[in-house]
Amino acid sequence: MSRLGERESGFLSTGPRGIFRRTLPAAEPDSGHRMVRVLGLGQLTLIGVGAIIGAGIFSLAGAVARDIAGPAVLLSFLIAGVASLCSAFAYAEFTGLVPRAGSSYTYGAAVLGEIVGWVIGWDLLLEYTAIVAAVSIGMSGYVGFLLDDLGIHLPAWALGAPGTGAGHRIDLVAVLICLGVAWLLNRGTKTSSRVDVVLTVIKIVIVLLVVIVGITKVQSANLSPFMPFGFDGAVAGASTVFFAVFGYDALSTAAEESLEARRNLPKAMMLSLGICMVLYVLACIVLTGMVGYQKVDPARGFSAAFEAVGLGGVGTIVAIGAVLGIVTVSFSFMMGASRLWYALSRDGLMPRWFGGLHPRRRVPHRATWLIGGASAVLAGLLPVREAAELTNIGVLLAFVIVSAAVIVLRYRSPELPRGFRCPGMPIVPLIGIGFSIWLMTFLKAETWWRLGVWLVLGLIIYAAYGYRNARKVSPGGSVDLASLPDQP
Ligand code: ALA
Repeated sequence: MSRLGERESGFLSTGPRGIFRRTLPAAEPDSGHRMVRVLGLGQLTLIGVGAIIGAGIFSLAGAVARDIAGPAVLLSFLIAGVASLCSAFAYAEFTGLVPRAGSSYTYGAAVLGEIVGWVIGWDLLLEYTAIVAAVSIGMSGYVGFLLDDLGIHLPAWALGAPGTGAGHRIDLVAVLICLGVAWLLNRGTKTSSRVDVVLTVIKIVIVLLVVIVGITKVQSANLSPFMPFGFDGAVAGASTVFFAVFGYDALSTAAEESLEARRNLPKAMMLSLGICMVLYVLACIVLTGMVGYQKVDPARGFSAAFEAVGLGGVGTIVAIGAVLGIVTVSFSFMMGASRLWYALSRDGLMPRWFGGLHPRRRVPHRATWLIGGASAVLAGLLPVREAAELTNIGVLLAFVIVSAAVIVLRYRSPELPRGFRCPGMPIVPLIGIGFSIWLMTFLKAETWWRLGVWLVLGLIIYAAYGYRNARKVSPGGSVDLASLPDQP
């Protein structure tokens, strides 16, 4: 055998026995494991908007305006949006090529090899679970506020995670939200998508209400000075509000349930990010223009601002809308996580038990309950900042790998038919990579440690189970799930 041949068949090769073998998706198995295609462009865009607008604008915008950026918080959103857009282009190109469930896991496995795909997938399981927890904790604060308004006071032990207040033991509302979302998802894609569409429309209407009513109360004096913390403040704010501008990666995990996924998914990603950026910038002008950045309430910014200008009723409507709207973020990411688990199981990297679909509703019901349970534990016991940091490091790592992969594939296989082409190659994805790494440097050492421990655990699972069992599956998931063992 030639030297090249030896490399191709070795453990570190791209050959069939190598951990870098590329598993480009093939035809779906004609078994009981295929999902139903029901989602069109409109629905996909709504799912995207539903996943992007959430705790980021409703909670973080106020805090960043007051403490970091002032009225220039809108610049923070724009900077974060541009950074995210560079990665969105990369996601869009891959989604157009590989419209299969599993998000950047599938892309990584197809382009950079099985082990890279697995690392991304394992990383995303952590990220998605943490984001469901983080937004549920954020929402729980608003729910508590509305309950207080109604004169219903929860006992101290149920009000938050240990360490977040006197007598706090668990964030009960956040736990119930996580479990409730899992239940809704397991009602079946069609039913739960309808719920999601209704809630997303409510959220868009609430943001439009904020903008249309709020703009009449804006005083230009409140917007001056525009950059009280300098341009540095606006840039620092971008690293925080970055949380608000991702979400379309969860959308790509809905690929197997999309009609004409190759064409519709990239379009839906760009559309949903564009719509959100316009709404964010307008909402930021209103928020800081109504009351002045020093007086913005960091926890319930929009409601408090309306109260301050004598529109308390609008403030209450906005609070209710925010609660309902943020639910859609949990929904999208839990759906993303369960579909990712389905894809990992389909490809033999996880036991097939996880990928089993409900016989009637055709949803990965076991994976959904597992994600629901895990996020409920995190939401109940972690402070929101810790859950959010776990989210951020996972997202940024995935962005780096996906942006790198789109460059590699463009030069390695330029002839592949692409539903969407990332513009400005390779500058645009390189900017995405640079921005992501730069933002990661702002995260604490503990967050890096947590990610490290999680990834090591993932590599152990790959060595003990995934490597062996993925080879019983024809590349890309034409898998006879029945041939795999239930347990490692
Ligand atoms: N982009 C989502 C939010 O703002 C995660 O909550």
